[in-house]
Formats: sequence, C-alpha cells, structure tokens
Amino acid sequence: MRNSRNIELIDLIMCLSDAMDFIDPAVVDHHKQVAYIAYNIGAELGLSLKELRQLILAGSLHDIGAFSLRERRDALAFELSDPHGHARKGYALLRLFEPLSEIASMVRFHHVRWYKGAGRKFRGLDVPFFSHIIHLSDRIAVLLYKKKEILGQVSGITRTIRGKSGSMFEPSLVDVFLRVAAREYFWLDLSAPSMRTVLSQRLRSAHLGIGSRDMLGFSELFSRIIDFKSPFTATHSSGVAATAEFLAGKAGFTKKECIDIRIAGHMHDLGKLAVPVEILDKPARLNRREFNVVRHHSFYTYRILQSIAPLQTINTWAALHHERLDGTGYPFHLKKRDLPLGSQIMAVADVFTALTEDRPYRAGMKQSGAIKLLDTMSFRSALNGELVAELRQHYEEADVIRRRAQSSARMKYRDIAAAGAEGR
Ligand SMILES: [Fe+2]
Ligand SMILES: [Fe+2]
Ligand SMILES: [Fe+2]
Repeated sequence: MRNSRNIELIDLIMCLSDAMDFIDPAVVDHHKQVAYIAYNIGAELGLSLKELRQLILAGSLHDIGAFSLRERRDALAFELSDPHGHARKGYALLRLFEPLSEIASMVRFHHVRWYKGAGRKFRGLDVPFFSHIIHLSDRIAVLLYKKKEILGQVSGITRTIRGKSGSMFEPSLVDVFLRVAAREYFWLDLSAPSMRTVLSQRLRSAHLGIGSRDMLGFSELFSRIIDFKSPFTATHSSGVAATAEFLAGKAGFTKKECIDIRIAGHMHDLGKLAVPVEILDKPARLNRREFNVVRHHSFYTYRILQSIAPLQTINTWAALHHERLDGTGYPFHLKKRDLPLGSQIMAVADVFTALTEDRPYRAGMKQSGAIKLLDTMSFRSALNGELVAELRQHYEEADVIRRRAQSSARMKYRDIAAAGAEGR
C-alpha cells in the first residue's frame, strides 16, 4: 500500500459528498453543484486560490448536518421554515476535525439571509462573508430542474435571484453571479459530469495532502457523520474500529497496520450515508425493499473508496465486512481464500459490536449469548474461528475497549444532537 500521506483532502471530501448525495435522486450532485457555483462566484470576485479552495470544501460539505432524507428534501425548497438546525449540526460535526474548523463556521451560517446588511450578524455572532456566498450558491442550485434543458432555465433563475437581492442575498454577490450567469459554459458544466473534473482540478493543484495522523482524525470524522445519522447506529463504527484494532494486534499486525484497520473500522459503513434515516430508524421489521436498500451500503463503501488509490488496502478491509468465509455474505460472495485477514477481522468486529452494543430499543447482549452466536457463526465457517477464539479468550479486555470507544462517541453524539436542537 502506498503511504497514506499521498491522500488528497479533496478526494476524501468528494467521497463524503458523493455518499451523502446517493441518498436520493433528488439530491444527486447537490453538494458538487453548490461547490461549483460558489467557486465560480469566488473566482469572479477575484478571491485567492486558498479562499477558492475553502469555498469548494464548504460547498461540498454544507448540508452535512441534514441527516434524514426529509431534511435533505426540505432543504430543496427555495424558502425554508427552519433552515438552521442542520447548519448548526454541520458546524458541530466539522468542528471536531481541526483542519476543517474554518469551513465549519461557513457551514454554520449558510442559511442566514442578508436582510439589508443585518445578516452580517446572526444572533450576535459574526457571519463569515463566505457563508453568504454558500447561501446564494445553494439557493441557485435548488432552483435548477434536472429534468429540463438547462439554458432555457437561466432567465427564470436569474430573475428570481435578482428579485431577492438585498433581502435574501448580499447585493454585490448577486451582481457577480449575474455576470457569471451570462456565460453558457457555467450552466453547461453545472449539468454535466465535467463539473466534477473542474472541481477536482482546482483543488488538486493545491495539494492538500493528508498525513497518517490526520487520516486517522479524518476517518473519525467520517465515523461521526455516518453514525450520528441515527441514534440506532450512533456509536457503532467507533466500537467496530476499536474492536478491529484490538483483534489486529492479537493477529500480529504491525503498529501501522493496526492504525490502518482502525481507520477502516471508522469508514466501513460509509455507504450507510446513502441509506435514509427513515429506514435505519424504523422501529418495526423492514420490508423487502427497505431490507434491500440497507444491503446496498457495503457496496457503496467499496465503490466510493475505490476512487482513492492509496486507500485500497483500507477499502478492502472496510468494505468487505459483510462477506462471509463460506461465500454466503454480500455483495461479492467472496470466499475465505479471497478475503484478506483484515476483512475477516472487520467481519468479526462488526458482528461482535452489533451484538454487544446497547441500542435505543434493547440492551446489548451479555457475554454468554454473544459468544454463543459468534461460535455458531464460526462453526459454520462464516467467521474466522481463530479470531472468534481470540475474542472468547480475551473477552473482557475486548469488551472494555469497545465500551470505552463507544461511550466517548456517545458523548460527542449528545453534543451534536444538542447543537441541532438549540435555539429553536
Ligand atoms: Fe442547507
Ligand atoms: Fe444545500
Ligand atoms: Fe455494515
């Protein structure tokens, strides 16, 4: 595996925004469109490369706090009734990862209206000017109809935006947008796959490389974003990551590999970002369709992470966690000989955590029950028997490590939930 130092921040951010936008056809490419519009407005304003990069990152992540499909769909309406809850949650999440703290503040205020200048502040706090750029870009993006020819929509969109200059939007930004809007290429990129290329070229030239230590921090942010969608999964990835790291140590992985498997644990359920919370949270039995949608998730994890070459070993360890040694898993139906030990560890860690963690509707299983189930799965050659034996032998140690990781995640989860509810 190449050193994780070669990973570009933008590639990771694109993975996140892709995963978030897979949730529904109505929001596909939304984050990218907002990033692209903001970038163009910023370029027309003459902003520096560093500032343009920040706009792209903020645009690519701005709705990260909108956890449910309902929140995502609601945010597509031009006038919103309560837009700030998801913005505050997004802020609270992004702030957890220091390199994104400036972006976090832009996201926090991305629905603040200009109100003839009163929008420079919001509830006594300074609103970054870039939040107004994201706000305008976001509202332009929601006016687009994906199913209609794009150039025919331009006059209607510009009329609507011009009509809100000064009230909803900062007037000089509206003027800048109107200049950009006069060029066809702007709209054509916005509705074509070329948009992605333009964005990553702009950012890639910046070489915002991520070192191994940051990669662990970033993967932790991934785990929060994935897990905090639902109280049912709120601490799951943290538990899996800690258990996987523990098992990897027992299996003789090097220190570096142990960190990598922890990173993989944080990201293994990345594809769950594409599963509506309405399904994850459903208190009753899932119907056939819902069950199928849940089964998409590990496939999405795989395909999304596949785009980052230096993450391929981590991807294999992460995304194959529902494969089983006897070929009964999904989505590839691989068998033991095709499954790296890291993937086998992840499968055991995932089952162990799922059985033992507390959920809102039930307490976690006790030792005897959990071991019994793990044993059954290893007897029928679904899980690696040696790894299960390690867990049986060091049960208490593993369980304490898992619990500790999950309770620290639980505290963060409470903070984020409180941020969403505050000031309503
Ligand atoms: Fe939003
Ligand atoms: Fe948005
Ligand atoms: Fe999973």
